[in-house]
Amino acid sequence: MNLKDYYIDFFVRHGHKQIPSAPVVPENDPSVLFNTAGMQPLIPYLMGQPHPYGTRLCDYQKCIRTNDLDSVGDTTHHTFFEMLGNWSLGDYFKQESIAWSFEFLTEDLQIPVNRLAVTVFAGNDSIPFDQESYDKWVSLGIPEARIAKTVEDNFWIAGESGPCGPDTEIFYFRSEEEIPDTFDPEDERWVEIWNNVFMQYHKDTNGKVEELPHKNVDTGMGVERTTAILEGVNDNYLSSIWKDVIELISSISGLPYEGEYQKSMRIIADHMRTAVFISADPAGIKPSNTDQGYILRRLIRRAIRHAKKLNIPMTSDWERQIATLILDKYVTYYKELEENYQVVLDVLTNEKEKFNRTLEKGLREFEKAIQKSNHIDDVTAFHLYDTYGFPIELTMELASERGISVDEKGFEERFKEHQELSRTASAGKFKGGLAGDGETETKYHTATHLLNAALKVVVGKDVHQKGSNITAERMRFDFSCDHKLTEEEKQQAESLVNEWISEGLEVKVTEMKKEEAIASGAECMFIEKYPDMVTVYSIGDVSKELCGGPHVKNTSELGHFRITKEEASSAGVRRIKAVLE
Ligand code: ALA
Repeated sequence: MNLKDYYIDFFVRHGHKQIPSAPVVPENDPSVLFNTAGMQPLIPYLMGQPHPYGTRLCDYQKCIRTNDLDSVGDTTHHTFFEMLGNWSLGDYFKQESIAWSFEFLTEDLQIPVNRLAVTVFAGNDSIPFDQESYDKWVSLGIPEARIAKTVEDNFWIAGESGPCGPDTEIFYFRSEEEIPDTFDPEDERWVEIWNNVFMQYHKDTNGKVEELPHKNVDTGMGVERTTAILEGVNDNYLSSIWKDVIELISSISGLPYEGEYQKSMRIIADHMRTAVFISADPAGIKPSNTDQGYILRRLIRRAIRHAKKLNIPMTSDWERQIATLILDKYVTYYKELEENYQVVLDVLTNEKEKFNRTLEKGLREFEKAIQKSNHIDDVTAFHLYDTYGFPIELTMELASERGISVDEKGFEERFKEHQELSRTASAGKFKGGLAGDGETETKYHTATHLLNAALKVVVGKDVHQKGSNITAERMRFDFSCDHKLTEEEKQQAESLVNEWISEGLEVKVTEMKKEEAIASGAECMFIEKYPDMVTVYSIGDVSKELCGGPHVKNTSELGHFRITKEEASSAGVRRIKAVLE
């Protein structure tokens, strides 16, 4: 039996109903990207709505906190963790809550009282000192010297607003050294394991505090930390939760979990687990450049970078091996892992393959940039993001490893500018009169631009588009040319398109005056057909055309390009049929 089972068993014995863990992506709360605490999915009930399971609840909740993502790599920080919680919705209050926490720790988990200490709310202008909790702890046998009174750390709220209240926190002495008689919450040998919040207020977004209709208890205990403590290890990754994952990474890489390798191994283990849970979530999140999808992308790409640091070959299925182990560890607790088992593996592999196509080149680009200067400017940071798929955080991590600074603010500005343009593009996406607007058609549309550009390189500058037709199955492209293409020309054009696809070129859109667009050298089929203001799509620096879109964001989305036929269309016009596969 593990900690989760002990915990649920205890609180069910004490009259609580176990509720299922909510998804990691909140179902009805757009204010947060992920559930960050067990209480988050329960907010409506803490505010007074009756819960269908009653007034005493318990669960283990999947949580994701990304605010200190950069700290992951040490012995204690995780982006995903499980939080054990028990709640009273207007039922019991301080007496029972404290008594049960004490009983669970000292009897079920057999933790010696001597290793425990607590904090209670000292009081401020509006809320008095929590005498009741103080007295309760004393009555249970916690010496007064082991009860610290604090203000800042003993008032709990998720973020800026919502249900809140004073709390009492329980600490464990995690050290072989002699236990001091007096508890000092600043002494890092004491680690917090449990937080009992006496939630009787609600703070609105204007900072106004009001009493809730009833008094609640909200508690939280971190599974990772408490498990490590119970197992007597000082590094969470040596506990039963992680040990086998670390061993697997060690065996895949052929390196020991020691010294400089530890950080990378912890990051891979942590980030892969979080990526598994995000991509298994019923919300169907996929790696992308916004919101939860961006976090997922960052986590996977950071794990990939660290796998590369450990010399794990990208051609191996390391990501599947690690994810499979994680899925199998948790599948009995979370049914979505079973339902989306294959989805998770595919998300990870696809993202690995996508990033791997540009990672090497991006790293070379980074090295080149730092040869020239000990500062990464906004243009370089954006180029690394835009062309090589480097999340800014990755560039910053690489830079900080070399003691180099990054113009993060400048990057953010460029990023915003870029987003504005993409929005303009998608708002006007049907203006060009493209027949279909499905995903496949969109890809073919971008491939048409690439083929047009490739033919100009291979055949000559005089090649111009004369027409095109796209279906979900293939593209057809007519162009001016006075001869049947040779095998070699066909081959070269095809390879060039594929090269650009594999370079992961960013597709960008700009709005400008028609004259300006033509002057800038943008390609255009029927100049008179366009309005005065036009949109110009450019692909890396290989193609620039007047066009209404839509297009993919990055050529890496296209897959493999193959010319299936080259034939005459009419006098001086040739026709190419091609597929993406
Ligand atoms: N909601 C409280 C916490 O996260 C229990 O610490």
